Amino acid sequence: MSLLSALSIIFGWMLHVSFSATNTHYVFPRRTFPYQSELRMFREEGIFNYSTMLMQEDLGVVLLGAREAIYALDINNISVRKTAVYWRVTEEKQRECTYKGKHAEVECRNYIRTLHRLNATTMYVCGTNAFSPTCDYMTFSNGQLRLKGKQEEGKGKCPFDPFQRYSSLMVGNDLYSATSINFLGSEPVVLRSSDLALRTEFKSSWLSEPNFVYMDFVDESVDSAEGDDDKVYLFFSENAMEYDFYSKVVVSRVARVCKGDMGGQRTLQRKWTSFLKAHLDCSLPEPSLPPIVQDVFLLKHKDWRKSVFYAVFTPQSGSSQASAVCAYSVSAIRDIFNEGKFKTPVAVETSHVKWVMYTGEVPVPRPGACINNLARKMGMNRSLDLPDKTLQFIRDRPLMDEAVRPLTGGPLLLKKGALLTRIVVDSVLALDGQRYAVMFIGTENGYIQKAVNYAGEMFIIEEVQLYENPAPITILRLSSSKGQLYAGSAFGAIQMPVSNCSRYDTCEDCILARDPYCAWDFSTQQCLSVYSLSPSSNPALQSLKEGDVSQCPTPEPVAAVDFPLVPENNIQLPCQLHSNLAQVLWRFSDQTLHSNNKYYIYSGGLLILSATKSDAGLYTCDSVEQINDKTYNRTVAVYRLQLSSGPGLEGSTTPGNEVTDSSNSIPSLNTAAPGPDQGGEDPLSPENQRDSGRVTRLEVAVALLSLLCLSLMGVIFWIWSRGHWECTKFAKSSSANEAKRHSAEYMHIQNRTSEIKLLGPESGRPCSANNNHSAVDFKGNGEHHFTPMANISSLDGLGYINDESEI
Ligand SMILES: *[C@@H]1O[C@H](CO)[C@@H](O)[C@H](O)[C@H]1NC(C)=O
Ligand SMILES: *[C@@H]1O[C@H](CO)[C@@H](O)[C@H](O)[C@H]1NC(C)=O
Ligand SMILES: *[C@@H]1O[C@H](CO)[C@@H](O)[C@H](O)[C@H]1NC(C)=O
Ligand SMILES: *[C@@H]1O[C@H](CO)[C@@H](O)[C@H](O)[C@H]1NC(C)=O
Ligand SMILES: *[C@@H]1O[C@H](CO)[C@@H](O)[C@H](O)[C@H]1NC(C)=O
Ligand SMILES: *[C@@H]1O[C@H](CO)[C@@H](O)[C@H](O)[C@H]1NC(C)=O
Repeated sequence: MSLLSALSIIFGWMLHVSFSATNTHYVFPRRTFPYQSELRMFREEGIFNYSTMLMQEDLGVVLLGAREAIYALDINNISVRKTAVYWRVTEEKQRECTYKGKHAEVECRNYIRTLHRLNATTMYVCGTNAFSPTCDYMTFSNGQLRLKGKQEEGKGKCPFDPFQRYSSLMVGNDLYSATSINFLGSEPVVLRSSDLALRTEFKSSWLSEPNFVYMDFVDESVDSAEGDDDKVYLFFSENAMEYDFYSKVVVSRVARVCKGDMGGQRTLQRKWTSFLKAHLDCSLPEPSLPPIVQDVFLLKHKDWRKSVFYAVFTPQSGSSQASAVCAYSVSAIRDIFNEGKFKTPVAVETSHVKWVMYTGEVPVPRPGACINNLARKMGMNRSLDLPDKTLQFIRDRPLMDEAVRPLTGGPLLLKKGALLTRIVVDSVLALDGQRYAVMFIGTENGYIQKAVNYAGEMFIIEEVQLYENPAPITILRLSSSKGQLYAGSAFGAIQMPVSNCSRYDTCEDCILARDPYCAWDFSTQQCLSVYSLSPSSNPALQSLKEGDVSQCPTPEPVAAVDFPLVPENNIQLPCQLHSNLAQVLWRFSDQTLHSNNKYYIYSGGLLILSATKSDAGLYTCDSVEQINDKTYNRTVAVYRLQLSSGPGLEGSTTPGNEVTDSSNSIPSLNTAAPGPDQGGEDPLSPENQRDSGRVTRLEVAVALLSLLCLSLMGVIFWIWSRGHWECTKFAKSSSANEAKRHSAEYMHIQNRTSEIKLLGPESGRPCSANNNHSAVDFKGNGEHHFTPMANISSLDGLGYINDESEI
């Protein structure tokens, strides 16, 4: 065994210990399924950036937009390409674009960014077209895709810059789009392209360097007692105006406009009269700048009041790697817009403006409200009839005072590691008659996390690797009726079933997976999809909230496998658990084994160092998994170690296990890997052990490493204590000015704390205890920001003035 692999074991272990100790509310997927070549994939040689998708379930196709190409793919098997159409940028356009300083092969191409359905045969499609956005009509008929060649100006409907996030939505024949309307990308708009085009005001109080992520439609006019209008909701992030930072801070927003808006008559002519926005709150457990919304999905309910937006957030500063999912009910957002207080700008000192709660009189009709019965009673049937007073109010104050809070008070999911990028949510009817919202979340390294929140318990059922090479998932779509997910990345599109219950081959596995799509069918003795169970057949078993396996048939006892014991050899007994969340428990003659100088317990099994005759006997590997308050033990493997005469055995093998010669080397495990999961991550994988690994060398290495570890801990403790001292010193500096001088120092400490977080719960945040009134964070560009604040865990505590009267 090489020093390197020994090192990786020890550090892997340190990491593991620290993780489990400090971050109890961050969840890990219970199962990990590596890339499978059976997943259906689509890509064409030489074509990249598969990032626009339009599901056409009635036509049986998925339309996929890529760079200079649009495909119609079979919705049941996206590897099957039905037809394609290419829309390449002209040489002239490309030349113009390069003259303006853009990269010919990267930016000066036509990236398809918009694909919307107009009717069963016609679609609307836009591309960046070498920084000259252009739209066209496209038909799909007789199995052929055709561009109509009726090219239209795409400015404001589609971004110029292929790298810019953007969102659009087709409602009837009206295209709603949120993007930049100019070449430089400096003029953001939320635009409705219709007979009566409307857009946002060019004011930083409306939109300040926004990053648009999602739009959706809610038919709030249905059953509305107030005679309210339908709405379009928009999610984005932008520079905050309401916080008093020295530098830019980005916040997440939800905004909305009314479908029937026609703009104002004199004030807000051809502009939205109903554009309102609010801060979207999703607090992470650690003190940090507000996280940034990356994607949203609207889980629709027949009654729109019960529809819920699910949003993915990632941290704003580079120091943290935690992502979150928060959910917001449509009614909660609506209440804030319909009844909440407004924020208003107030000039302080010379040119500085603060945004504070507006406490004055609000004009009637209420600014930003859609035309409803109340307005109609006042003789105002259209937004054009609204009085100037109402319009001027909303023109200057589009921001609501109160933030929109998550439905459950906090995140539904918190996850460390690869950042989350996209989300879709399926509503699954489980056997208990309840519906569960199953979240499918794409990551920046090409995985899908499948997660549920069971009454406050965050739970990731599994993670599935979609791409062989890590690539961010840039688009994710769901077909509930087909039970399929479709993901896109720079390199291709992939289709994945929402569940694959056949992966669970025992009743215990099936129940412990707690997957609402899967149930154990007693008659066929299989884990089956709940959709394939016929209601009349034998009852099937599911236990989602509890993971209760007590009704499963008693499993057959695990048969003991004979294993030869060669004295003075190292012996490796493999044992692969079925869950990342389970802990392994090795027993030898009813004694629990622990890692020490004789035994080494690692993720793939047990290593007995330099075995002696007394090691002969029965070894049991148990999996111990905690579900809520209950502990589930089950035996995964049993070995019977029997003494054999060493050298005579050379070359002979027990089934699957090859025992090497008697020269003290670790027996290598040939094809013994019991599960498909045993692979690269296993520090004792066959490759690592094959070449050599004498016990003496291992022992020396371990001893050396222990020394190294001890000295490392010493160094870390030294850093920690210094950090602690400097924090105390920092906390004493009372005035903001003095604190500002010290902030660089504090930043330093923050950096250090992130290193030493690995050690344990106390060391995680040496500063937080005595430093409640100040916080510093910094952005990727190395700038740092300082603000005096009362409570940094939630933005509401930030020290801005809550009320005009306080100034
Ligand atoms: C999907 O289509 C590809 C290409 O035609 C084919 O090779 C593959 O077998 C199909 N898969 C299934 C499950 O039908
Ligand atoms: C679909 O929409 C297009 C464009 O609006 C229109 O020209 C065409 O007639 C429509 N087709 C049908 C079948 O409605
Ligand atoms: C397009 O894909 C390539 C990978 O081939 C990637 O480098 C590039 O960033 C992608 N462009 C956009 C606009 O996403
Ligand atoms: C508004 O609509 C009502 C009923 O449709 C009509 O009676 C009234 O005259 C309209 N008012 C205006 C100002 O157009
Ligand atoms: C489901 O899982 C089984 C077992 O791992 C695998 O063989 C099969 O290909 C999977 N099915 C799909 C549709 O991915
Ligand atoms: C399961 O394991 C736990 C922890 O090791 C132990 O305390 C408990 O007694 C075990 N339960 C059973 C039923 O074996």
